[in-house]
Amino acid sequence: MRVKSLELRDFRNYKSLKIDFSDNVNILWGKNAQGKTNILEAIYFLATARSFRTLDRKSLISWDGDNFLLGCRIVNGSEKKIRILFSKKDRKAGLNGKKVGKLSDLIGILRVVIFTPEDIFLLKGNPFKRRRFLDICISQIDKKYVVVLQKFRQALIRRNFAIRKYGGRDNAFLWDEQLAESAAFIMNRRNSVVSELAEKAVAYHRDITSGTERLRIEYRPSIKVKEIGKAEVLDHYKKNRKKDCEELCTTTGPHRDDIDFFINGKDVKLFGSEGQQRSAVLSLKNAEFILMKRATGETPLILADDVLPVLDRDRKRAFLPSLKGSAQIFITCTDKKDIESFDGKAKIFRVFSGNIAEERV
Ligand SMILES: Nc1ncnc2c1ncn2[C@@H]1O[C@H](COP(=O)(O)OP(=O)(O)OP(=O)(O)O)[C@@H](O)[C@H]1O
Ligand SMILES: [Mg+2]
Repeated sequence: MRVKSLELRDFRNYKSLKIDFSDNVNILWGKNAQGKTNILEAIYFLATARSFRTLDRKSLISWDGDNFLLGCRIVNGSEKKIRILFSKKDRKAGLNGKKVGKLSDLIGILRVVIFTPEDIFLLKGNPFKRRRFLDICISQIDKKYVVVLQKFRQALIRRNFAIRKYGGRDNAFLWDEQLAESAAFIMNRRNSVVSELAEKAVAYHRDITSGTERLRIEYRPSIKVKEIGKAEVLDHYKKNRKKDCEELCTTTGPHRDDIDFFINGKDVKLFGSEGQQRSAVLSLKNAEFILMKRATGETPLILADDVLPVLDRDRKRAFLPSLKGSAQIFITCTDKKDIESFDGKAKIFRVFSGNIAEERV
């Protein structure tokens, strides 16, 4: 899959911009704070309807604008055009010139895997980050997951509200069926995706550590049942009603899930060195790339934000060739030296204060 062109209006520090990309490697280079990451953020938003930097999507609107517009032309077999108009009050999305209901309906049309220096917080940070990673990964390959996740969140909000309002009375639990059904679906998908990611990440990790490190990745669901099914999960929620009422919220479920990472049997989060944590995340992201490719039959885009400086020589050597394969790549850097390893196939863009100029090589 390829993004042929991108259009931005009033997005971050871009007033108005149109760029045509290379099908292979696109290098965005320039000094700090010029707008390199903003371009990756725009592509990421078109793919996932989210930012990878902030939960507050309104902050993507230019400071002196009222709304932002993002558009792109994608080719994967056929041609597709996505458009998003996002204002403080309203969101409009279009596919091939036709209005679509919600921004989330666009998820999965363009697929991306992102590498950023902040990825390390996937390991070090709180479980929310790991759930978000997993949700975005699965959403891009499974439309139903997006819908069920929304159902689950709705049911959760309503159940929590009802628990606070009605305490232990029956009215508090009207949402348990919907909650259990969606929770079971989410847990099943997460379970199978994590085990697939784990299998692929382990092999990659073994390679980049010359066989010295054994990585293990495990899904840790907050609800422990023998078999993940609606009946089992509903039963669990029924048993937990008293506790949930005492704590005034739904204490278990996909919103409390986590993923564990171990290197040679030790929890990477607690005992891993900075380098080991970076390798583990790199292996995970690589696995995500392979998984998406396998699940959809199409190569996702790779967005690599300023990642080269944080990799040591060995990992850079492992990282670059894995990028140079079949994917369309967008890579940012401040130092032109970092990009010498990409040969003639790359398009090079110099980014300066919200402008972009293509450079001849
Ligand atoms: N909503 C916004 N409206 C206008 N400008 C914004 C907005 N949000 C961020 N900016 C500006 O965008 C610029 C940062 O862009 P970006 O993060 O893409 O920089 P960068 O080129 O990746 O820099 P670095 O090399 O430091 O990572 C900053 O100058 C910032 O002030
Ligand atoms: Mg940046």
